[in-house]
Amino acid sequence: MTAPVTEVSRAADLLRAGELVAFPTETVYGLGADARNPQAIARIFAAKGRPADHPLIVHLPDVSHLEHWASEVSEMAFKLATAFWPGPLTLIMRRRLSVLDAVTGGQDTVGLRVPNHPMALQLLQVFDGGIAAPSANRFGRISPTTAAHVREELGNSVSMILDGGSCLVGIESTILDLSGTEPRILRPGMLDAIAIGDVLGFIPEFGAKLETPRVSGSLEAHYAPITPLQLVAAVEVAQLAHRAVQAGRHLAVLSAQPPTFSHQKLLWITASADSAQFAHDLYAQLRELDAIGADLILVEAPPATDSWRAVADRLRRAAAGSNRG
Ligand code: TXA
Ligand code: MG
Repeated sequence: MTAPVTEVSRAADLLRAGELVAFPTETVYGLGADARNPQAIARIFAAKGRPADHPLIVHLPDVSHLEHWASEVSEMAFKLATAFWPGPLTLIMRRRLSVLDAVTGGQDTVGLRVPNHPMALQLLQVFDGGIAAPSANRFGRISPTTAAHVREELGNSVSMILDGGSCLVGIESTILDLSGTEPRILRPGMLDAIAIGDVLGFIPEFGAKLETPRVSGSLEAHYAPITPLQLVAAVEVAQLAHRAVQAGRHLAVLSAQPPTFSHQKLLWITASADSAQFAHDLYAQLRELDAIGADLILVEAPPATDSWRAVADRLRRAAAGSNRG
């Protein structure tokens, strides 16, 4: 979905003036600011309520911009960037000194990606520079996958929201750290280790080597609804749901199985059994389940296979972080 040229040039003008513009990407909506403007970056942290040491991803119009942000572009980095950009892959690379500390959280690395959404690419090309953008949600909450989600949560803090429909991928990009001795996946995403391995020639390992990785997605409490969320085994969903409702609890369920009963105190969403479709729907469905003010959200645990890894990661964090207000 592209936007009228006037809308995109207005958005680029707002960014140049230091304002915040929310825009769609293929993963989730981003809360964008001029990555070279410290005041604009400060606005992102204020709007999100995000701790200042959590670094931001800088979105670029194309691979040729890499050298303005990364101090050195290795052959491996260039290969990965050309293979997967535009696309849901963020590369962590050693930064140029000119990159703002406010963007990198004071680290010597920077996260970079070219998003695969026509409206984001239009905006980046007209802006012709780096746009720093975290997911456009309040810190610790569920990432937005529609313009309406952004409006509900951050409508008062942004100057403009570009509406590009619902995000195709639906969960955040895969983060691959290229700054160490060997590449490591810091955050799983729908672009999986096998696809990355095909380009690298070997499959990268998961998890940061450092003891305190500055990946906010690595905090246990993240991507969380307000209602307590519990992950349960597939074979237990029906029985546990029935028992909870019998006990008078107001219940929300997300399961690949259809409901076995109905009740006025039950909202049951039958999720897709396909991991890509499940990821696409996940955050909108969690918002819907959260909105009914239930006592509990029961979610069927996904299969323990590679294609479900990123989804399982987000669900685990949602379960760890729920009910923190
Ligand atoms: O799909 C996405 O990546 C979305 C869209 C908008 O592009 N963005 C996104 O941003 O998820 P955010 O800020 O919600 O999550 C970015 C993650 C954070 O966990 C942050 O800590 C990590 O990337 N990150 C950014 N720069 C980093 C760096 N230099 N080193 C390690 N982690 C970094
Ligand atoms: Mg986020």
